[in-house]
Amino acid sequence: MKQKIINILKKKNIRPLVCLTAYSKPIAKILDNYCDIVLVGDSVVTAMYGMRNTHNVNIDTMIRHGISVKSNLKKAICVIDMPHKTYQNTKQAQKNANLIFKKTKCDAVKIECNGKNFDIIKSIVDTGIPVMGHIGFTPQYFKKFKIQGVLEKDQIKLIEQSIQIEAAGAFSIVLECIKSSLAKKITKKLKIPTIGIGASNYCDGQILVTDDMLGLSGFYPLFVRKFVKLDNIIEKGIQKYKKAVLNKSFPSKKNIF
Ligand code: KIV
Repeated sequence: MKQKIINILKKKNIRPLVCLTAYSKPIAKILDNYCDIVLVGDSVVTAMYGMRNTHNVNIDTMIRHGISVKSNLKKAICVIDMPHKTYQNTKQAQKNANLIFKKTKCDAVKIECNGKNFDIIKSIVDTGIPVMGHIGFTPQYFKKFKIQGVLEKDQIKLIEQSIQIEAAGAFSIVLECIKSSLAKKITKKLKIPTIGIGASNYCDGQILVTDDMLGLSGFYPLFVRKFVKLDNIIEKGIQKYKKAVLNKSFPSKKNIF
């Protein structure tokens, strides 16, 4: 396993892991100075392509954005989401994980758990590609948002899934939109770091969709904090530009040849 991934494992219990998504060069360059893990999430299609969910992402889109992000990261670990239906059996999963890995030179891939695809994770890990797991609200397998692990029986299932994902060889696991008490139990049980999104600060790290936390996406559920309102800042810039074009103060002498 690559040293970068081993270092992430060592960070459990030392300090929280800082993780965000990126889909492009400028964002990747900034995140590299601050993040342990940068995820090229399949959320790229909802954030950038206007799709309603992540059910129809294709592998070429992930590879294209993956190349753009990975080639602009020097320190952070680059994880790329495997799109829905690209890991339905071990042969297909190995082929597609290998394609993403080779073309983007990423450090790892992420797989959403459907409650039974542990052998898929193992088969990819066996080829030498590190895998991040993902349980709780896994957008590829749900139509509607719903907090997970509310009932005791569902909590037991999610704990079992997390244990199986660790046993399959995953190096970390995203816990999305689960009860805080459950995130606490899972984090305590696992040796690998848990990365929470809507899963409390009991997790070993946190991840958000960057467009959400920058106030760019228009999607602000309870678990998102807008750390800056970039939409307002951009709008002010556009207003200034429009005014300058209309009153012909732009381009000025400084901007012409
Ligand atoms: O696609 C994505 O951005 C994700 C994160 C929300 C964890 O899977």
